[in-house]
Amino acid sequence: MKTVMIKTHEAWLAILMAGFMSRTENKQVLFDFSDILFRHFNWLENELITLDETYSYDRDSIPIKVDKLSDMLSNIIHRLEEIDLQLLSSPDKELNGRISSDIKYMIDVLTHMENEHIEAFSMARKFPGVALTQEATDALTLFLFEETYKEYELIMIYNYLKAHSNDAYLNRIFQILIDESFFHLKRFGDMGAKMGVLAVPRIVMKELYQVDDVVQFLHDGINEELAAKEECKKLSEAVAKDSPELEKFFDFINYQENYHIALMKDALAYFAKKNND
Ligand SMILES: [Fe+2]
Ligand SMILES: [Fe+2]
Repeated sequence: MKTVMIKTHEAWLAILMAGFMSRTENKQVLFDFSDILFRHFNWLENELITLDETYSYDRDSIPIKVDKLSDMLSNIIHRLEEIDLQLLSSPDKELNGRISSDIKYMIDVLTHMENEHIEAFSMARKFPGVALTQEATDALTLFLFEETYKEYELIMIYNYLKAHSNDAYLNRIFQILIDESFFHLKRFGDMGAKMGVLAVPRIVMKELYQVDDVVQFLHDGINEELAAKEECKKLSEAVAKDSPELEKFFDFINYQENYHIALMKDALAYFAKKNND
């Protein structure tokens, strides 16, 4: 069970990375499949919690540097076949059946997917259609590297908190924050691939999501969101001269963080009210 969950985590990320690499209509299919695997991951996690088994979000590193999409797809198909095999030995037959039927369909689609030449690792550091100065290029590269990890980290933290909470009010907030982080992760990952600097986010340390004090976590989180806003502002200024389009995009991301802060404040107010009752 635990192994299946870890392998599903790895397959989810591998297929998400393939989605970033793709520049054709394959992209949406790969993104949809990665979303499905993320939901499998959640079901399996929930199963572990029900069985009272300890687990973490640790995983192996995921090699993704390929020249052809077909190489990445073979790797993913292999991962899915392995998950399908291991599902046979896990206890919830109904759940296994559901996951297995998705996996078989995905393997079939991936097997017939049109091949693509991959530029996501070229290290060209050029944003298509935009001529950025060296300074702006450096700022953007660094931002994408750091923020791709940050969004992945947030997804894992909120996902873990949600998995361990039965409070509908908080879980609604956690779910919105997960969805928002996914949107940012997908945009940044796509940009990283376009710049030729795509990389898998590093593994999130247990201490970050196995949170004892959620109130403290939310306070810290709000400060991190404020810091993220500053990063977006700096970047939007750095690219403003060369690309009004990118400037507007990073302003948009900056203002989205306000919504995240509002949600976290909402959760804090809820905790305060609960403690007073
Ligand atoms: Fe964000
Ligand atoms: Fe945020």
